[in-house]
Amino acid sequence: MTRTLVIIPTYNERESLPRQLAAVHAAAPEVDVLVVDDGSPDGTGEWAEERAQVDGRVHVLRRTAKNGLGAAYLAGFAWGLDRGYDLLCEMDADGSHRAEDLPRLLVRAADADLVIGSRWIPGGTVVNWPAHRRLLSTGANLYVRLALGIAVHDATAGFRVYRAEALRGLALGDVESQGYCFQVDMAWRVLRAGGRVVEVPITFVERAEGESKMSGAIIREALLKVTVWGVAHRARQVLGAVRRRT
Ligand code: GDD
Ligand code: MN
Repeated sequence: MTRTLVIIPTYNERESLPRQLAAVHAAAPEVDVLVVDDGSPDGTGEWAEERAQVDGRVHVLRRTAKNGLGAAYLAGFAWGLDRGYDLLCEMDADGSHRAEDLPRLLVRAADADLVIGSRWIPGGTVVNWPAHRRLLSTGANLYVRLALGIAVHDATAGFRVYRAEALRGLALGDVESQGYCFQVDMAWRVLRAGGRVVEVPITFVERAEGESKMSGAIIREALLKVTVWGVAHRARQVLGAVRRRT
């Protein structure tokens, strides 16, 4: 039997998390969930721990400082790999990733190393996003495709399934991305390792409660990192071509 862990990073999601956990277990009763909370002042961590007491499928990793999405997921991956899960999923706490889409993503993991729930392929969409968020996401994804030369249409997406084997093959200790560019970083690493990435269309619904943690710092980190990766990639390509000629 395939053992699946859904990792949900949280920072101040006390209002949203209960509904998201219930939705995940309604759609996929057999999966375990790991909440990775970064010391939310609103009591998200305490609530998750109480839940874990009464539901054996719920686990909690409580960290003391808000260290970014990347660090939270890396801690969650390490936790899940240590415990022998076969599939490790990423999902937001705020209801944007619909639990009813999860089984479709899980099915596709049979023939992929990374399954991305994609907003920007036919059949995918975003509900209730203002024009500036839509532009930021489509613009960022266009830049990623051009800079890195990859065919992924939603490389920043945070609704994913990784095969544990694929994660084990990556040097996760080297990942430095803190913010949402962590998502691009991971997709890029899977591809460079020769892994297979597939995209499944999803409907992303903007949160009804709480606040987005998107910030100027997160955008700047992503722009800088993607540019550095892209330049390094092109330099490697040029060097390779020169070597082949000489
Ligand atoms: N533990 C922890 N630490 N969790 C965090 C942190 C952090 O520093 N920052 C954000 N989160 C959690 C939030 O609590 C939420 O569950 C999830 O990560 C996504 O954060 P949001 O703030 O809701 O992100 P968004 O809706 O603006 O962004 C969405 O789009 C991005 C760009 O496409 C998400 O789907 C991102 O994953 C995606 O990269
Ligand atoms: Mn959100």
